[in-house]
Amino acid sequence: MTDADRTSTTHGDATPALPPVASFADLELPAALLRTLGEQEVREPFPIQAATLPNALAGRDVLGRGRTGSGKTLAFGLALLARTAGRRAEPKQPLALILVPTRELAQQVTEALAPYAEALRLRLATVVGGMSIGRQAAQLREGAEVVVATPGRLHDLIDRKACRLARVRITVLDEADQMCDMGFLPQVTEALDQVPADGQRMLFSATLDQDVDGLVRRYLHDPVVHEVDPSAGAVTTMDHHVLVVHGPDRYAVITEIAARDGRVLLFLDTKHSVDQLTKHLRASGVDAAALHSGKSQPQRTRTLAQFKASKITVLVATNVAARGLHVDDLDLVVNVDPPTDPKDYLHRAGRTARAGESGRVVTLVLSGQRREVSRLMGEAGIEATVTKVRSGEAQLSRITGARKPSGVPLDGGPAAPKAKNHNAPFRGIGTSKDASRGTGGTGGKSRKSGEARKLAEARRAARVRREG
Ligand SMILES: Nc1ncnc2c1ncn2[C@@H]1O[C@H](COP(=O)(O)OP(=O)(O)OP(=O)(O)O)[C@@H](O)[C@H]1O
Ligand SMILES: [Mg+2]
Repeated sequence: MTDADRTSTTHGDATPALPPVASFADLELPAALLRTLGEQEVREPFPIQAATLPNALAGRDVLGRGRTGSGKTLAFGLALLARTAGRRAEPKQPLALILVPTRELAQQVTEALAPYAEALRLRLATVVGGMSIGRQAAQLREGAEVVVATPGRLHDLIDRKACRLARVRITVLDEADQMCDMGFLPQVTEALDQVPADGQRMLFSATLDQDVDGLVRRYLHDPVVHEVDPSAGAVTTMDHHVLVVHGPDRYAVITEIAARDGRVLLFLDTKHSVDQLTKHLRASGVDAAALHSGKSQPQRTRTLAQFKASKITVLVATNVAARGLHVDDLDLVVNVDPPTDPKDYLHRAGRTARAGESGRVVTLVLSGQRREVSRLMGEAGIEATVTKVRSGEAQLSRITGARKPSGVPLDGGPAAPKAKNHNAPFRGIGTSKDASRGTGGTGGKSRKSGEARKLAEARRAARVRREG
């Protein structure tokens, strides 16, 4: 067995895993589910599905790691729905629970599973912060077999006695390693403590690592481990570029990239810099919108829907959009601010090149950041092509499709300042206050200390906690 296709159990004396299947028809799936797979044009199981479904359907606990865009949602979703089919939830007492880190991902998982749930007459409820808690409580009161939730809102509903987990038979943690972040862990363990101890648990992520060990020891029984890819970075249809830019030219470069013909997702570190860049892009004639946790949930939902429907071409986001989100035909992701954590790199990058499609990931760096970024990419197992670029250059267009923006402001406001204007007013980029960033490669600070990493992790946790 190669490392690239490992299916095993954690302990030598544990129950062996069932072998992968070649087709959905080889699985004991209800006929209605098989029919719906056909209708959804899901013909053959992807490797993570072929590997995990036989075991998940047999009721085994599962640890599943498969690269971004490899079909993990259906891997856990089909098993959860098939094993819940035919049962009816009593008011406020769901039978299956899927926990995810963000509201958008909860919505997406619900939508992805909805046709299958409908075919099986199972009721799905989405429980997330930022939306009417009364309406969610009412839905639970009517009865929902499957609840897809962010941990904060689930906690609130349990507190209000609007939800009880005593009947939950199957619990899934999607993005399980992130669910072990300090920001989530207390509420995740609180939920797991309320779920009957003999139920099924499944943990999935593209970067399932030792971060989940504590949860595994405490809550999983004899789990089957599926590691379908040697490393999470191994999306072969994805190529990686580092573009070294000159400080004063930086946002001219970004604006030209954003003005490309086609969609692009831009990642920045902070809500403030996301808002500033979005404003600048719109003033330059680029149809961009911002997604971060400071926006209202209806705004967030609308922005993502507009991006998915190509009504806007540029989504400017914080890490809130880094995990799990799927947008068809998104072929370029740009790290305007380089991520601080190799796992963040993999998840941000994984918004492109999904389900066998190809895509490109571009990370902008100043020359002083090069060493730190190359170390981060090394840790993520990524090999990137490094190119020095300037705005207006053919080289930049070749790599990113960059072109000159129209310069006609979209919101009737003043035009953006000229791109080449040194010390131009857009200061949201490269001004991170995190001392561990931006100075990499100078003064011997290139190796981020354990402390700085912990700090970055704590910040990340605080950000995601606020997500609810
Ligand atoms: N067997 C299949 N055949 C064809 N398409 C599929 C199949 N399984 C999943 N897909 C599609 O692949 C895309 C990616 O799936 P999904 O979002 O589940 O990936 P993921 O592994 O959860 O990624 P991430 O790690 O980013 O969360 C979705 O659009 C989904 O509909
Ligand atoms: Mg996913």
